[in-house]
Amino acid sequence: MKALPAATRRWLALEQTVNDRRINPLHVVSLSGSQDAVWPEYRPERRPVWPLAAIFVPSREAHSYGNHRGWLATRLRLHVPGDQDVVFVHPQSIEAYRRYIDRYGLVRTRILATPTSSHRSLLAWNPASPDTPVIVKVSLFVVMGGVLRDVDEGELARSTVATMILDGIDPRVRAANGFEFFADVGGAALQRAGKAWILRSLPESIVSARSKTMVPFFSLCSAQPGEPDPILARAIRRSGRSAAEFLCERIIDPYVRVFSYLLLVEGLGIEAHSQNVLCEMTEDLEVTGKIAFRDLAGWGAFVNLALRAARGRGVPDALPARRGDIRCTWADLTNAEVAHQRASEGVVRYGMHQVVWELYRGLRPYFPALRLVTLRAHFLQGWKRACLEHLRVDPVIAPGCISIPLDEAIDAFLLHHEWRGAPAGRPPRRLMSLTRASVSAFRPQLQVATNWGRLLIEPGRSVRLDPAPVRFAGRSRSRPR
Ligand SMILES: Nc1ncnc2c1ncn2[C@@H]1O[C@H](COP(=O)(O)OP(=O)(O)O)[C@@H](O)[C@H]1O
Ligand SMILES: [Mg+2]
Repeated sequence: MKALPAATRRWLALEQTVNDRRINPLHVVSLSGSQDAVWPEYRPERRPVWPLAAIFVPSREAHSYGNHRGWLATRLRLHVPGDQDVVFVHPQSIEAYRRYIDRYGLVRTRILATPTSSHRSLLAWNPASPDTPVIVKVSLFVVMGGVLRDVDEGELARSTVATMILDGIDPRVRAANGFEFFADVGGAALQRAGKAWILRSLPESIVSARSKTMVPFFSLCSAQPGEPDPILARAIRRSGRSAAEFLCERIIDPYVRVFSYLLLVEGLGIEAHSQNVLCEMTEDLEVTGKIAFRDLAGWGAFVNLALRAARGRGVPDALPARRGDIRCTWADLTNAEVAHQRASEGVVRYGMHQVVWELYRGLRPYFPALRLVTLRAHFLQGWKRACLEHLRVDPVIAPGCISIPLDEAIDAFLLHHEWRGAPAGRPPRRLMSLTRASVSAFRPQLQVATNWGRLLIEPGRSVRLDPAPVRFAGRSRSRPR
């Protein structure tokens, strides 16, 4: 690991060792104990390194997405013959691949692997070129937190779509909003078994930063080996601010800025909990406000196609894949069915009941004056302001309410949208009470044809998609960055 770039090592040490796995038991299935299902020698905190094993299968046996071959060649110096594809195997899941291994063998590659905070997302590098590590997210046939941790083909395809959408955001806009992301650039699935793996690139700041470090949110308030207090407790003391002020301005505001932009402008929902979100810190423990995120295809991730249509942002015309015989639609690949119910749920669940709660629980012992209600109120007010800015809709948060009607705000935006090219720019409007009933008071019935299906905009169920089948574009044109 010593040969890895310094910024990667700093981040990796936090991923593996500064993690109390503090999660809100009211909102998340407990992780404690469940990770015991992973053999001790492969647990992150032991910091194991092993040679990555792979099965080379004939191309006809695999579905391949994106340009993972190009990335494997340039980053890991692994060359996959044109008539073959590669499937990486976690050492604890070898038996799940027995049929393939008996037929095609299991190769011990020269690539080294070590787990991140996720046992199945492995940092991988070639010792001959350790300055270009990537993440290989493999199928791990182990149940953790009530979920089997394999990677199915749908997840691979969905994360490829989400990456294409994120790649389509102008880098200047990304910089202005202060975020980077781990791009899921492709991968392969065994055609019959569906077992897949994902190739993920690291954001620039985890590879090439000089002195700044990307700190996973869970590390902010976790016990650190050799340090009396968590990183964030020290950062707050150094700043001379109160804990509440610091958390609201330096952590919660950047978090809301990034994820509200993604949700309300790009139509992208992300499972933005503490394991998937990171923030940048300087050596002097200053929080710069830059955020990074990963994991684009969990059950809580989605693309709101209607919102993208309203904004003139499409989805890719075709999916990069070498074989196109899986049956799916854009609705499947973007989780469109859930996109119209899950905005509030995701924001409240991952943001408020996890991130905000974890900050509070982790720091309260050090700052007894810290109040959960203060942080929650600030978080919700941030989302309210974001709705006004991005949707021109002002959702009402009733006193004492610990949620925000984001789905209704998005519906209101869509139903007020001039779908037939009306002039842009309307005054903000205040909706007294945004509920599904008030939204359905607007009764336009419209059909909008898009490249991924027909949008049906109607009262009650405000927007539905009549999805078109997905086309496959042969080899991806996306180049390794
Ligand atoms: N603090 C934490 N909160 C939530 N999950 C955690 C935490 N620390 C480690 N994990 C692990 O992260 C895993 C979820 O991430 P996963 O989807 O596997 O990978 P990735 O986030 O790299 O795409 C869970 O299996 C869980 O064990
Ligand atoms: Mg995750």
